[in-house]
Amino acid sequence: MMRTGPIGVFDSGYGGLTVLRSLVDRLPQYDYLYLGDNARAPYGHRSFSTIYEYTLQAVKWFFDQGCPLVILACNTASAKALRTIQQEDLPRLAPDNRVLGVIRPTAEVMGHHTDTGHVGILATPGTVQSDSYVLEMAKFFPEVKVHQQACPLWVPLIEQGEHAGPGADYFVKKDLDALLAQSADTDLILLACTHYPLLEPKIRQYLPADKKVLTQGTIVAGSLAEYLVRHPEMESRLGKSGTVRFYTTDDPASFDRKGALFFGSTVRSEQLASEALIH
Ligand code: DGL
Repeated sequence: MMRTGPIGVFDSGYGGLTVLRSLVDRLPQYDYLYLGDNARAPYGHRSFSTIYEYTLQAVKWFFDQGCPLVILACNTASAKALRTIQQEDLPRLAPDNRVLGVIRPTAEVMGHHTDTGHVGILATPGTVQSDSYVLEMAKFFPEVKVHQQACPLWVPLIEQGEHAGPGADYFVKKDLDALLAQSADTDLILLACTHYPLLEPKIRQYLPADKKVLTQGTIVAGSLAEYLVRHPEMESRLGKSGTVRFYTTDDPASFDRKGALFFGSTVRSEQLASEALIH
């Protein structure tokens, strides 16, 4: 009988839990294994080589746990590490396994949600610097103009549980104003960091009512559902007991408390020492 394994879902910290929520809602039959590298988060300001190294370590760990498929539920890791892992590491490590990101599936549909042809991207400095959204959108919607704004303090505010506090208002308004100043025609704002859905209430508060806000969870879940229909050879390798297990490289008690905000229901995590990721 063929060995099956869970779908690995990775993020630098808590943000990927917003994607995992949508995956579990849309595809509840599968087993999931989540890893948040909280001890080394945030990734957003780190160099290409550090993000690549940390992400590759996590991918290897998922493979060791028997995951045939890993989703990088983190825009920063998708922007900086995914291509190299897919092209250079996967053929050597596990050619039949797959690692997928969140940027391409988002770019594939984003153009359908704008009427003016101007979209705004809010993301970490790493994602913005990589120009990944500009490059991917040029493939799928070359007529759409992409405006980007890095929000360097948003992830730290969220990771520290300050996203609902008054300190967050200042930075949300500042970065939104900077994005909208690039073009008054922008009618669609993508929260291109999986942490940002927690700031959505504040973002909406400071955004003119006619602008739309797009989050990634349901987009990624829809894209995965289609992928698994197109790839029965992968689908048959996935465990289908409906289990969800959580690991964090930092303190599990704190992960469970804060993680529940992102996941929308109870989280019970186990600790994985960062050293265990270093092969
Ligand atoms: N959640 C990650 C993303 O989607 C960013 C977190 C970080 O900066 O570590 O980009």
